[in-house]
Amino acid sequence: MYRQLRGGERMIIEAKKNKESASSDSGAIVIAAQNLSKKFGEHVTALDGANFEIKAGEFISLVGPSGCGKSTMLRLVAGLIEKTTGEMIVNGEVVSKPRTDVGMMFQKAVLLDWRTALENVLLPIEIRRKITQEDKQQAIDALDLVGLKGFEFHFPKQLSGGMQQRVALARLVLTGAKIMLMDEPFGALDEFTRERLNVELLRIIGELSATTLFVTHNIQEAIFLADRVMVMTPRPGRIAKVIDVGLKKPRDISIQTSHEFNVLVEQVRDVFGEH
Ligand SMILES: Nc1ncnc2c1ncn2[C@@H]1O[C@H](COP(=O)(O)OP(=O)(O)O)[C@@H](O)[C@H]1O
Ligand SMILES: [Mg+2]
Repeated sequence: MYRQLRGGERMIIEAKKNKESASSDSGAIVIAAQNLSKKFGEHVTALDGANFEIKAGEFISLVGPSGCGKSTMLRLVAGLIEKTTGEMIVNGEVVSKPRTDVGMMFQKAVLLDWRTALENVLLPIEIRRKITQEDKQQAIDALDLVGLKGFEFHFPKQLSGGMQQRVALARLVLTGAKIMLMDEPFGALDEFTRERLNVELLRIIGELSATTLFVTHNIQEAIFLADRVMVMTPRPGRIAKVIDVGLKKPRDISIQTSHEFNVLVEQVRDVFGEH
């Protein structure tokens, strides 16, 4: 007897198929910075001599105080701004123009008020070509995956801030991008909503096995989500330390009260103390 698959499950099965076909790529370096610096004008060094490698499927949190160069780093990965010196390499190519193989998510969901959740999720495809029935089904599945089944025809105004960010996440999932760049996506949400979305993001990214660079100034959030935390310090923006998280997955929010977790929090805080 066949069981009816939930939409979210269908998306995951598709993602796993893709993962298997790309399995030779596992462990490949997806994002690499080589002595990368970015200056704005003469005086502002937003980023100074960054070196790192991010492997396929890794989740990296980039944490640091406001103004230390986190957003600048994401924009360099996406090819939205030009580096000053050094190199940013994505999927084996030197980044020299905006890349189409990365998906971005911001603190604001950036939804169009006059379009339903479903229509907002479909927008990036619609800009490129005519929407098919299959696209619609996949968008419905993506909304299911992010926990918004039943809200397909709601307008942004009818959704809470957390639900709007879920729509933005579904839109990102539907683009099929295997590199996710997230710039404080839950920074404007209340603590409870943020924690719930952290748990769900971990599940969703794990299932899609995307490579993720997640920016936050929240130390707990950075550790909870990540395989590794890159800690940045201000003036000039430097990666001061990279910390291996090593907490096994799946993770539950209660892990945040554990001794191991708090040791990691202290490690991150120590870096700021030193600078
Ligand atoms: N387009 C720009 N022109 C001039 N200075 C900028 C520009 N973008 C960022 N900066 C400066 O670069 C530094 C790093 O900014 P940013 O990457 O946005 O920091 P973060 O995201 O960590 O808060 C800050 O001092 C900021 O004022
Ligand atoms: Mg920023």
